[in-house]
This record gives sequence, structure tokens and C-alpha cells, in this order.
Amino acid sequence: FVIMVEKKISILFATSNQNKINEAKSILGPIGYKIEQLLISGEPPRFIEPKSLGIEQVAISKMNQAKHMLENSNLAYNPILVEDSGIFINSLDNFPGAKSSEVENEIGIEGILEMLQGVEDRRAEYRAVAVIHFGNKIFKSFGVWKGQISRIALGNNGFGYDPIFIPDDSDGRTCGQMKKEEKDNLSHRNKALKNLSRHIKARQSE
Ligand code: IMP
Repeated sequence: FVIMVEKKISILFATSNQNKINEAKSILGPIGYKIEQLLISGEPPRFIEPKSLGIEQVAISKMNQAKHMLENSNLAYNPILVEDSGIFINSLDNFPGAKSSEVENEIGIEGILEMLQGVEDRRAEYRAVAVIHFGNKIFKSFGVWKGQISRIALGNNGFGYDPIFIPDDSDGRTCGQMKKEEKDNLSHRNKALKNLSRHIKARQSE
């Protein structure tokens, strides 16, 4: 009999965020992808991120920059993945949005809890935009994960805003309290990346 061994599709993820790489590995690994960090001379690429434009434009800009950096290199035709994400808080007019990482560094999750002190509307959502350059085409896909901002930070798992984000489709724990697999099965990144994999599969069977 014949054993079919499907070859894994190798994707270079252009990010310096190790948490995003780990999540992408656990989301796309089991469905046939090998995710590796894109390194140029041993370093993850440093992107200029035009934050005022929103996460979709930031993701597209990162892709253009990555392609430019890889021009004329032996990686120029490799599938490249970029992602931009953030948390959007309803009562704060979608702040911090595309500026989530800076705001996290500047005021931290405690700063966000302070801004929301006494605020009843706790609604928020994580959003991710993933863009892949695959087979000379660019595909873009989105993921949204709706939830609430907790009153106190709980749990040490995940990263960023996870200790203060309670997803609506779970059991009331924050992402910080969820196991890695639980988060990865539901997250905005899961939705965006699974969607991309559908584009890739469709492209392969063209
Ligand atoms: P980016 O690198 O510009 O896409 O910044 C993404 C930022 O959004 C992260 O640094 C976090 O502050 C926040 N963020 C995005 N996704 C998540 C998540 O899954 N958990 C917690 N924070 C997240």
C-alpha cells in the first residue's frame, strides 16, 4: 500500500512578537503548515508602522516593507506572513486599537483598568488582520473576538491584554486564565489565520 505524506507548507512569519509566532504555530501547525520566524541577518525585520491608519493598512504596509527587504534575496519567493492586531474598547471609542502595543508599554493593563473605573460598558474586541504573500498573490483576512474588559487583572497566561479580556464565548475566565489551547481555538488570530489557510488551499487546487 501507499502512504501519502503531505508536504508541509513553510511560511515565514515577519514579526518580532514571539507570542504571535507560538500562536500561529499552534493554530496552523496541525493543519499542515510549518511556521518560522522571518529573520534577516539574524534579526526580525523592523517595520515602520503607520499606526494612525488602522490595523489593516498597518498590515499591508508591513507586507510591502517585508517584500521590499527580501527583494533579490533567496527568500523573495517564500510565502511571507504578516499580522497586525489590537484591542478595541467600546466605551473608549475603540482606543487603543492599532496603538495597542504602545499603549500597553506606556500605561499597561492597569492603566486601562484605571481609565475604565466606574464605567459600566465593558465591551471590547480583539481584532487581527493577517496578510500572506503566497504564489505571487496577496491574501488578506480578518478575525474578531468579542468580549469584555474585566474589573481586575487575572491570570498570567498569554500576553498583552489577556489578563483583562474575558471572551464572550467562554466561561467567564480572562484569556490570562485560559490554557494556551483554549485561547488558540477561539481567538481573533485563530479566525484570521484559519481563513488565510482556506485561501492558500484554494490557490493550491487552482
Ligand atoms: P502589533 O504588533 O502592532 O500588531 O501589536 C499588537 C498588540 O495588540 C500587542 O502588543 C498587544 O498589546 C495587543 N494584542 C493583540 N493580540 C493580542 C492577544 O491575543 N492578546 C493580548 N494582547 C493582544
